[in-house]
Amino acid sequence: MQTISDIRQMQTLACSLKREGRRIAFVPTMGFLHEGHASLLREGRNNSDVLVLSIFVNPIQFGKNEDLDRYPRDMERDLRIASECGVDIVFTPTAADMYPTGFQTTVTVRDVSLPLCGASRPGHFDGVATVVTKLFNIVQPDVALFGRKDYQQLAVIRRMVMDLSMPLEVVGMPIVREKDGLAMSSRNAYLSKEQHLSALCLHRALADVRGLFAGGERTAEKLRKAALEIIGAEPGVTIEYVEFRDGATLDEQEVVDNATLLAVAAKLGQTRLIDNSVLGDEL
Ligand code: PAF
Repeated sequence: MQTISDIRQMQTLACSLKREGRRIAFVPTMGFLHEGHASLLREGRNNSDVLVLSIFVNPIQFGKNEDLDRYPRDMERDLRIASECGVDIVFTPTAADMYPTGFQTTVTVRDVSLPLCGASRPGHFDGVATVVTKLFNIVQPDVALFGRKDYQQLAVIRRMVMDLSMPLEVVGMPIVREKDGLAMSSRNAYLSKEQHLSALCLHRALADVRGLFAGGERTAEKLRKAALEIIGAEPGVTIEYVEFRDGATLDEQEVVDNATLLAVAAKLGQTRLIDNSVLGDEL
């Protein structure tokens, strides 16, 4: 396994691998890897000749009062997991190289970026779309893998790749959960034991709504009320949103179907967690 920090070196290597006809799979991350990332890496490994992982805590996708400075980092552990998952190249650029003085280009995916997390984190998806565009240009992947836990992020990236005719396939992988149902996230590291237990209400709410949907309920407002009751009953949890959206366009839906996305976001203390379920898919 090779670690590369230099942008030009990574890009030159990627271009020469492509010229040799090698298929590159790419998993972009901000590090502090967990089983969710490992599932993307394993899928990428099975699906390519060369597997590239990037680890870069992207400053431009964090708001002013967000957790950029305390975002969890553990490069040694990340490199161990990467090697166990069969990664060939770990790309670890610096912020100074990614955003040199004079940097002034932003990629905006207009409508899909606006609701849900985009409403409470203005500019977040511009930061994601911009860094992912840069990473794609540097790593030259044939296939890029993302987790469906960040459902809106995946929708933004899919739209961007389509709109800008980027020559790669985007694969969305299922949410990986702890045994108790909590969706895996690097930010789970912030939670105390009590907060972790409280956070399980998100999974319970998704499961409850899915049960009602399986029983024939199709009215978003009624399903929303059921979810709000479960999350609202948990002390220390502040609901940010519970919404039913079209799984592709993220347009709001009043009547739900198999392709409807139920997306939730809540805060436990300073920690913001998200979770989701497409009603017709497995939880
Ligand atoms: O999902 C993440 O870890 C990040 O948003 C990504 C896609 C690596 C861009 O910084």
